[in-house]
Order: sequence, then structure tokens, then C-alpha cells
Amino acid sequence: MSPAKPPKRDLLTTQTLKREEVLNLLDLAARMKLKGPGNLLAGKTLGLIFFDKSLRTRVSFEVAMVHLGGHCVIISSAYSDIYELEPEESAVMDGRADEHIKDAAATLSRYLDALAVRHVGTRRVYEIDRRDPVVAGYARFATVPVINMESETQHPCQAIADVMTMREHAVRLEGRKLSIVWTNHPEPRSMSVPNSLVTLAAKMGMEVTLAHPLGYELDPDVMAAAQLEARAAGGAVRVVNDLGDGMEGADFVYAKSWGSLKYYGDPEREALVKRSLGDWLVTGELMQRTSKARFMHPLPVRRNVGVTDEVLDGENSIVYEQAGNRLHSQKAILVNLLK
Ligand code: CP
Repeated sequence: MSPAKPPKRDLLTTQTLKREEVLNLLDLAARMKLKGPGNLLAGKTLGLIFFDKSLRTRVSFEVAMVHLGGHCVIISSAYSDIYELEPEESAVMDGRADEHIKDAAATLSRYLDALAVRHVGTRRVYEIDRRDPVVAGYARFATVPVINMESETQHPCQAIADVMTMREHAVRLEGRKLSIVWTNHPEPRSMSVPNSLVTLAAKMGMEVTLAHPLGYELDPDVMAAAQLEARAAGGAVRVVNDLGDGMEGADFVYAKSWGSLKYYGDPEREALVKRSLGDWLVTGELMQRTSKARFMHPLPVRRNVGVTDEVLDGENSIVYEQAGNRLHSQKAILVNLLK
């Protein structure tokens, strides 16, 4: 009898990654950055399935596969219409969806060695969106590894690149102060980045401060899990409702806007609330309250709405380093899943 095939591995969330796995990925990413192109994934194919816009994620995954000797296939509604997919099990498919994720994922698994999916929620019903049904559906029904390229609740590839970047500046992250600060934005954005980052920074033993206005709390389950992780790693996660207080003494200031759970599904009401939140803007004056912090943002950014030009273009801004490290950390992720 032949030995049982090991179960396929996915990268869907930072929550299930063990600290040791993260450290191994970061070490591999650092080696990848030094090494340059190679042929580790010669003959391998990666399908990039986009239901939402992207600049960095699409290009960095494509270039990563080229550098590793593999190939990408872009499957995106921006190039040609792809079928609307049904994520719910046992659905009676008499609505808009042409195909079930079960069938699409099983089919694509016959052509491709891995799938990477970006699908953020519709921001109508949180109880549905919080399950990330499209990314989870691909993971469930594909027989090849699935990578979450951003869903409503998680952006693990971004968070891994962020931690890689902080490590390049701080060597040891234990005890370092990271302030994740909410900033204003005309539209409600997903909570994927703060969710993934608070979890990963907690696993690294960082002292994490989340600064956001009332009503912009992260999912309590994410926060509870991050607080447990932080405690286990000797760090902490705390919340304040004032931007300046949140930045006090920080080594890293990470700005990001995200949508409110309180007003989920009600964008008009949220837009009204945000009219009084215009001072949630990272300025040079506020950066003076930090410990000469590096400034971080996952991009794209609304200049002079979430952060001033002065900070973004200033000498402590490492936003392009973060974006650049998406390439190296994703190479590590791909080699880890496919080799
Ligand atoms: N940060 C990030 O994911 O960028 P894109 O939306 O451009 O992929």
C-alpha cells in the first residue's frame, strides 16, 4: 500500500500560522531577497483569481513566479468576464451565479499547481462576509494549495511582508512598540489588514496599540485571539480612542483605514459619522510624539486624507520597502507551499 498523501496546505489567515512557521517564512524571505532569480518552481503554475482591484499583489505574485521559474495565469473579471460563483453548499442555483465554487475549484486544480484568490465582502451582511465565503470555498474544494490574496477579514501576504519589513529595521521585534492607527478615508475599507497584522505582531511579542475612534473596534474574536497570542509571546495588545495617545512612544506607526462594524451595511450613516473624523490624519506634528517611528502603510493610500505628504515622503517612511517586500515574502510563501 502506498503511503497516504499529506493534506494540502493553504495560506488563508495569520491566525492559524504558528510562530515557528512565521519565523521560518521570514528567514526564507530574507534569503530569497539576497538570492535573486532561480528555478525552484520551474514548470509550476499559479492561478491568480481577482474579484477586486489590485496593483501590488497582482504584479508581485506574477514577478515572484517569473523569478522562481514558474508561470502565472491571471483569471480576473478585469480582463474577461468570469462566471459568477455560488459559495453556499446545497444552494438551489436559480439566481445570478452560473457556477458553483466546488466545480470551478475542482476544475482549476486540474490545470494549476496553486490558486491565489482576492475577494473582499460586499459589506452588506457581516455575518456572511466574516466567513470569507469565496476564499474559504476555494480552499475547501480545490485539491491544490490556496493563498488568500485578501478577503474581507484577512490579508496574510501583506502582514507577512509588513513583519519582514519591521524586522529589517528592528532585528528583534519582541517588546517593540507598533501603533496601528485608524485614518479617515471616503469609503469603508475591509478590516483585512489590521486583523492580519495585529495577530502576527502579537505572535512576534510586540507591544501593539490599536488607535481608532469609537465604533471602529475590530472583531472581538480577532482581538481576543490576538491578546492571547501576545500574552504567550510576552507582548501586549491594547486599544485607545485617541490618535495622538495611540502614537505616543511608537517604534512603528502603521496607518490604515477600515470600515465600522457598527455601521456595516449602512454606508450612508457611516459617511455621516466620518465627517467628524477628519482629524484622524497622521501628520508630522503627531509623528513627533513617537520614538522616531518608521511610518508604514500597505498602499494604496489617499494622500492628505489618511497621512500628509510630509510624513509619506519623509525620511522615516518605509512604505515602498513594505511594498517591495511583498515580492520576497510571497516567493517564500510560494516555495513553502509548492516545493
Ligand atoms: N496592499 C495591497 O494589497 O495592494 P494592492 O491592493 O495594490 O494589491
